[in-house]
Amino acid sequence: AAPEMTPDISEPALHDGEQTSAIAEQRLATRYDEIRRRTTSLCAPLEIEDYVVQSMPDASPAKWHLAHTSWFFETFVLKAAFADEAVSKDYAYLFNSYYNAVGERTPRAERGLISRPTVAEVYRYREAVDERMRALLESAEEPLLRRLGATIELGLNHEQQHQELILTDLKFMFGRNPLRPAYREPRLSGGTEVPPVRWLRFAEGLRQVGHDGNGFAFDNELPRHSVFVQSFQLADRLVTNEEFRAFVDDGGYDKPRFWLSDGWNARNSHGWTAPLYWEQTEGRQWRIMTLAGLRDLEPNEPVCHVSYYEADAYARWADARLPSEAEWEVATEGVEVQGNFLEDEYFHPQPLAVASAEGRLSQLFGDVWEWTRSPYCPYPGYRPAAGALGEYNGKFMCNQMVLRGGSCVTPRSHIRSTYRNFFPPEARWQFSGIRLANDA
Ligand code: AVJ
Ligand code: FE
Repeated sequence: AAPEMTPDISEPALHDGEQTSAIAEQRLATRYDEIRRRTTSLCAPLEIEDYVVQSMPDASPAKWHLAHTSWFFETFVLKAAFADEAVSKDYAYLFNSYYNAVGERTPRAERGLISRPTVAEVYRYREAVDERMRALLESAEEPLLRRLGATIELGLNHEQQHQELILTDLKFMFGRNPLRPAYREPRLSGGTEVPPVRWLRFAEGLRQVGHDGNGFAFDNELPRHSVFVQSFQLADRLVTNEEFRAFVDDGGYDKPRFWLSDGWNARNSHGWTAPLYWEQTEGRQWRIMTLAGLRDLEPNEPVCHVSYYEADAYARWADARLPSEAEWEVATEGVEVQGNFLEDEYFHPQPLAVASAEGRLSQLFGDVWEWTRSPYCPYPGYRPAAGALGEYNGKFMCNQMVLRGGSCVTPRSHIRSTYRNFFPPEARWQFSGIRLANDA
């Protein structure tokens, strides 16, 4: 552990002290190519028309994601490395997301108005940025790469976050289309009958949470620190569609006693009667929108696309509660990161493949982000980086909840047990689901 590790993302972080910088350089160059290529390959199934639509203020057009991730490298890496001109001054305005220190930008809800530059021009922008990044990665002398290595690493992790957002945003767009088009053909899997939940008990104690500074982490995972965790129980698997449907059938959405006050207000103002993407046919069968189009609700799949409020109401109905982020992290420490991730290309949560071994937690990573009951707050001693990149995470530490574990559209290499995702409690368009906890 390195408790004195400072969360300064502008500092060099070509980790693993043993490695020569030449190897680290090469590794970074290879990863750069792989990750950048993955982003464009996710857009391969799209028609030109699909790139430009903004289906709601939170969901950006695919074209915007493609440009914004390139803008990130241009702004934070290339500008620091080379003194030459930006590809286009206008792009700095169009594709800045939220960095006040970098300047004015397109209002978030108006990203769909950017019909120009065209999709082809945005792809050329990506190529121009890639060319200059490759030159930097291949030829940079050690001090330059030392100085910028951590920012390039951050840019790659940023790109991976946007890979997930590309898919969640496309899903929302196709879900708003009356034709319910498929992003791509389904990859089907066989799941088994899901066994009843088994509860795993964890003893109370003083524990360490947060990242230890070995390898990449976002600043919001630092510093590692002590927490006292009361004894608790954690469900060995995720809540399924069938279980959630029992809550729906029991009138869970109509009984305020299960809901937080803000949740009840959200339920009323949005008219929620089921998770996002659930639709009922005339025969009262449930169908759900997936990235492979409309399908029958599969009872054994993990429930997905619920807000924090719905997750919390379900837990109360089930005589349980959501885990805190510290409980979740304590329970997953040392567990191998494996599960259904972006690379598996299901793009949909999968039923439990095999009944979990007694005493083991399943589905911790991948499938769906697990809502925790923890507000997204700074860890004790948290210090955002100096400069514009200090805006990356720190300024959002208010009015959002922490989610853990990654989803079926998160790249596997992006996730670790200390990873903190965060969304406002009303958000439903991410692949967000439920694992129950309880006091011991
Ligand atoms: C961590 C997923 C909430 O969506 O704004 C993208 C990820 N940060 N670009 C978000 C992110 C900067 C972030 N979330
Ligand atoms: Fe971003």
